[in-house]
Amino acid sequence: MAERIIIFDTTLRDGEQSPGASMNREEKLRLARQLEKLKVDVIEAGFPVASQGDFEAVSLIAREVRGLTVAALARTQKADLDRAWAAVKEAADPRIHVFIATSPLHLKYKLRKSKEDVLELIREGVGYARRYTSNIEFSAEDASRSEIPFLAKALRTAIKAGARTLNVPDTVGYALPNEFGERIRILREKVQSPPEVIWSVHCHNDLGLAVANSLAALDNGARQVEVTVNGIGERAGNTSLEELVMALHTRKDRIPYVTAIDRRQIVPTSRLVSRITGLVVPANKAIVGSNAFAHESGIHQDGVLKKRSTYEIMTPQDVGLDQNLLVLGKHSGRHAFQERVRELGYALSPADLERVFERFKDLADKKKEVVNEDIEALIGDEVLRIPDTYKLVYLNVISGNVAVPTATVQIEVGGEIFQKAGFGVGPIDATFNTINKIIRTKAKLLSFAVNAITGGMDAQGQVNVRVEEEGLAVLGKGSDPDIITASAKAYLNALNRLEYLKKNPIKKLR
Ligand code: KIV
Ligand code: ZN
Repeated sequence: MAERIIIFDTTLRDGEQSPGASMNREEKLRLARQLEKLKVDVIEAGFPVASQGDFEAVSLIAREVRGLTVAALARTQKADLDRAWAAVKEAADPRIHVFIATSPLHLKYKLRKSKEDVLELIREGVGYARRYTSNIEFSAEDASRSEIPFLAKALRTAIKAGARTLNVPDTVGYALPNEFGERIRILREKVQSPPEVIWSVHCHNDLGLAVANSLAALDNGARQVEVTVNGIGERAGNTSLEELVMALHTRKDRIPYVTAIDRRQIVPTSRLVSRITGLVVPANKAIVGSNAFAHESGIHQDGVLKKRSTYEIMTPQDVGLDQNLLVLGKHSGRHAFQERVRELGYALSPADLERVFERFKDLADKKKEVVNEDIEALIGDEVLRIPDTYKLVYLNVISGNVAVPTATVQIEVGGEIFQKAGFGVGPIDATFNTINKIIRTKAKLLSFAVNAITGGMDAQGQVNVRVEEEGLAVLGKGSDPDIITASAKAYLNALNRLEYLKKNPIKKLR
C-alpha cells in the first residue's frame, strides 16, 4: 500500500516572502479557501508577530477555513509564540511552527549565540508553545548546512520539549539530492524519534533542486513536504506543489506515496496565486506554464493526434486545465453568474455581487466568452482590495501615430473630484504623468507588465505595476478590456496600497 504524504503549503507565508508578492487579508483568505479546495493538509497562514495585518489574516483564516490544519510561524521568543497562538487558536486544528537556526554560520553571525544557548532556546520556546497545543512543528533553520551531531541534538531537544513534527529545511537551496536524502536518513537513525513524530522537509530552489531534494527526502523517511503553489517563495522559491504532486502521481511505479491533493484544482490554484501575487508563471514552467501541454513541432503534433501518450505523460484534464475554461456569455443571467462565483469559492455580499455582475455584463458585451479567470479578475478589481484613497472617475486618452499622447484624468479623493490633463511619450506615460500631477506622489515606477488574462483578440488586459516610495515597494493590479484603463487602475491601486501601508506599516523580521 502506498504511504500517505502530508502536504504542508506555505504559499501564504514563505510564498509571500517572494519580493513584491505581499497579499492583503482578503486575498489571503481567498487563497486559503482555494487551498482547502485543493485539499492540502496544512497551510502555514503567516507569521503573526511580523505585522498587525498578518496577525489579522491568520486569525481570519483560522476562523473561516475549517477543513485543514492552520499553522502560524514563530521564533522561540514568548512574544512570537503568544501572538502565533492568539492568531490560530480558533482553527479546527491549530499548529504552532517554531523555528531557530542551527548552522555554525547562523549561530555566529546572525544569532550571536552558542550551541548551548540555542538548545536552551529550543527547550524554552517549544516548551512554552506546548502549554498552548500539542500540535507543534519545530524547524532547524539552515539545517542542510548544520553539523549533523548538533542538528540531531537540537531535534532531540525539540521532541523532548513537545514537538510532534520535525522539519529539516534546506533554507538556502544548497543541498544536492543524494546528500540531502542521506542527511534525512542519518538524522532519523541518530534521533530515534518515537513513531508519532513526523519528519518533514522544506527545500528552497536556489540550484533548481527543491523538488528533487524533497523526493530524495521522501525516499529516506520524510512524510511531510513543505511546498508553495507555482514554487514561489524567498529568492528562487520553494518546492513547487504542482511539480511534487504530479511527480508522485505520474511516477507512482517508482515513488509509492500518495497525497490527498485534488489534482484538478492545480491549474485553477496556480492561476489564482499568479493573479493575486502578480508573479507571472513562465510559459515553460512544468505542469502549470501555458506551454506545458502545447505541442509545437509537426512530428510531436502528429504523434499526439495518433496517440496522446506518445508525447504526453499526463493530460491537461489531470491538472484541471479544462475546467478553467468553463464559459459564460452575455446571455448568462444573474443566477448562473452567482452560481459560478460561488463555485469559484467566493462568498460575496449582495452589494458586492451586484457590482461585479454589472462589470460582468459590460465585459460580456465586449468579449464573446467570459471564463473563470475573467470573473476572478473582476472580483479582484471590485471586491478584494484595500480601501481606496484615490478613485478613478474619468479617463480620456488621445494617442496615435501623429497625435501628442494626451490624457485627461479625474480622480476622487475624500469625496472631492480633481481633474487635470497632461502629456507623455505614449498614452500610458501621459496617463501616469497626469495622475502624478493630481496626486503629487513621490513614488517611482519600478516595473510595468501587461498580460492577456485569457487568449483571443478580445482578451481582458491585466496590468501589474510595481512602485516604490522611500524603500516601500508595492504591487498594483488592474484589469480591463482597455489596457490604458487597466494601467490607470493598476497605478492607482499601487498608490492606494502605498497609502495603506504608510498608515499600517509592516514590521520586517526576516
Ligand atoms: O527556509 C526556511 O528555513 C524557513 C523556515 C522558517 C522553515 O522558511
Ligand atoms: Zn523557507
